[in-house]
Amino acid sequence: MSDYAKGLEGVIANESALSRVEGLAGKLSYLGYDIDDLVEHCCFGEVTYLLLKGRLPNSKELENFQRKLHQNRSLPPQVVDFIKAAPHDASPMDVLRTGVSMLGLYDKRAKIGEPDHDELYEAAISIIARIPVIVAYFHRARMGLELLPVRTDLSEAAHLLYMLNGEEPTEAAVKTLDIAYTMHADHGMNASTFSARVTVATLSDIYSGMTSAIGTLKGPLHGGANEGVIHMLEKIGSEDKVDAYVEDCLANKKKIMGIGHRVYKVLDPRAPHLKKMALELTEELGEPKWINMSNRIAEIMLERKGLNANVDFYSATVYYSLGIPTDLFTPIFAIARASGWAAQILEQLRDNRLYRPLTKYVGPQELMPVPPLNER
Ligand SMILES: CC(C)(COP(=O)(O)OP(=O)(O)OC[C@H]1O[C@@H](n2cnc3c(N)ncnc32)[C@H](O)[C@@H]1OP(=O)(O)O)[C@@H](O)C(=O)NCCC(=O)NCCS
Repeated sequence: MSDYAKGLEGVIANESALSRVEGLAGKLSYLGYDIDDLVEHCCFGEVTYLLLKGRLPNSKELENFQRKLHQNRSLPPQVVDFIKAAPHDASPMDVLRTGVSMLGLYDKRAKIGEPDHDELYEAAISIIARIPVIVAYFHRARMGLELLPVRTDLSEAAHLLYMLNGEEPTEAAVKTLDIAYTMHADHGMNASTFSARVTVATLSDIYSGMTSAIGTLKGPLHGGANEGVIHMLEKIGSEDKVDAYVEDCLANKKKIMGIGHRVYKVLDPRAPHLKKMALELTEELGEPKWINMSNRIAEIMLERKGLNANVDFYSATVYYSLGIPTDLFTPIFAIARASGWAAQILEQLRDNRLYRPLTKYVGPQELMPVPPLNER
């Protein structure tokens, strides 16, 4: 057995009661509630409460919690100015990363050192509430559109769609996005969550933890894969070209975005929900091409490599069908995962220990004298 695990595969880095990812069974649950059950019976607000508080809210608690979230939506004017001034061709994830980091400048709760848990919880709520507003404002600013005042009467999913498009979304669109949020809320020790926990474990502040997480999510091997799926489908272009494209990727060892998972060795339990929503939406729009292409890619990859579609594979078609611009797919993942990051940060700091793994040294074994500069 190797004395180190490349990419920390199989390494248990901490304890968490938040989400249980069962890779061999293909199951996911949050605090003992199966994701299928949560999707059917709870809204994203309830799931966020569950993650942050460790139990499901009753209706009064949910109402108060959502009121608090909604009242925290306004951004400091300096952050709005930054968003307006950001280059219009900037990546929305870069704007989000900088925007969240900047929020910390205007929040006295962004403190280093031993945490005040109540203050930390309040700061967490305010970050979760503001992330969607940064995303929507940047999108409107780059399109030359007016930045709409935040509203307090809309759910998380409805508010994002309203803030992006400037009109009340349909119930179906809100429900779809709400389910997508629930499914992306938390997922064990994924790379961005790990980043968040490593950062706050130094007793740095929560804004630094969330900023680290956003920077980590952006990569195409993690949250960026959902955008990669649409780029791939666009590049393939039509159903008859799918087989040749996939075969070419396999022959040249190129990764197919949205396929494969480090932990799930069977179907990602989130994928069927997203597939169902993608099917319904594309049927409604009368544009089955994307879903047909996706299905064929998934079929070939399962046959040829034994690899399954992951959460990003069908979420791409869902967001696309909702009319969301492709480069906002990963920010939407961040909006949903912010609840998990925040809960994981709170959990880390309730029983903290600095992360400090070792490295397997593979450099020169014998020490050498440093040669003078003019002799090298
Ligand atoms: C998610 C991911 C990074 C997991 O990576 P991992 O656990 O390190 O898996 P590995 O890279 O070791 O893959 C094992 C084998 O499957 C292949 N493989 C894994 N994912 C693949 C993909 N998406 N397309 C093609 N081949 C893939 C690898 O090339 C490797 O093949 P080999 O044994 O012939 O060399 C990887 O599957 C991937 O890059 N997927 C695409 C990006 C994506 O969708 N990310 C979102 C994850 S939720």
